Amino acid sequence: MAGLPQNQDPNLLVGFDTSDDAGVYRLTDEIAVVTTADFITPPVDDPYRFGEIAAANALGDVYAMGGRPVACLNLVCFPSRKLPAEVLQQIVAGALGKITEAGAVLAGGHSVEDDEPKFGLAVTGVVHPKRVWRNSGAQPGDVLVLTKPIGSGVLFNANLKGWVSDRDLEACLQIVSTLNRGAAEVLAADTVNAATDVTGFGLAGHAFEMAKASRACLEIDIGAVPVMNGALKMYRKGMSTGSNDLNRRLVAADTVFSRKLPPWHEQIFYDPQTSGGLLVSIPEAGARERIDALHAAGIVHAAPIGRVIGRREGPYLSFL
Ligand code: CO
Ligand code: CO
Repeated sequence: MAGLPQNQDPNLLVGFDTSDDAGVYRLTDEIAVVTTADFITPPVDDPYRFGEIAAANALGDVYAMGGRPVACLNLVCFPSRKLPAEVLQQIVAGALGKITEAGAVLAGGHSVEDDEPKFGLAVTGVVHPKRVWRNSGAQPGDVLVLTKPIGSGVLFNANLKGWVSDRDLEACLQIVSTLNRGAAEVLAADTVNAATDVTGFGLAGHAFEMAKASRACLEIDIGAVPVMNGALKMYRKGMSTGSNDLNRRLVAADTVFSRKLPPWHEQIFYDPQTSGGLLVSIPEAGARERIDALHAAGIVHAAPIGRVIGRREGPYLSFL
């Protein structure tokens, strides 16, 4: 949307200019609405799980702003002449389960006829105007924490070829259908200087957006980034996704790898995520306790993956 005129309304606290996760509009000094929409094609055949994943994915952008989802609308593209109505019922049932788990309600929706099913939600959330988590507040000295492992993109693609074990696929499905609610609630107990969720642009892309919006540089420890079981193996075997190359090119001029990785290994950082984890920038003091608290709350993969340093000449993003 670059090139469109900027919105001048002072109550628009977060617009589209910083590539943040959702729009935030202040209604009063106490309350702002978080508004976002997202829909996806099915990552797996099971319609119920498709609904769960699509809903967790759409709700994720509200958590990434520090908000609480309150009301959702279904966004449906469905080939009603090709697929039975029960398939759509299952998709919506899966989504409703996640909406309910989020403490929100389904208020309606809209559907159109389409050759390929697509499903998602428009979500309205609420947040205190002074407690909005932007992607632009990362401070030098902060610790970067990622709350879910990466690798769902390549696993879903490899699964179409039957390359992924049932066990690795099931573990991946569990992770992507988990709401970021629990992680957001633990993190909200302390300072969050910047937050986003890792989705289609991969870890590198979303980290880059945070760095650029914060006018800071990010250093990511290659070995500290949690990766889903089987994902690196898929890249080593030559599997990829339709987004990897684009994601790599989007950050190439602003990214440096300080040690030479095999090209297949580098790909994991461009792997597009569906319903990925939160990437947060938190003060170093208390970071260890916050990560312990995430683990205690069942967010077992949460890990410190790097740090924020002051803006300097050269690339925004370094993989060490
Ligand atoms: Co997002
Ligand atoms: Co989004």
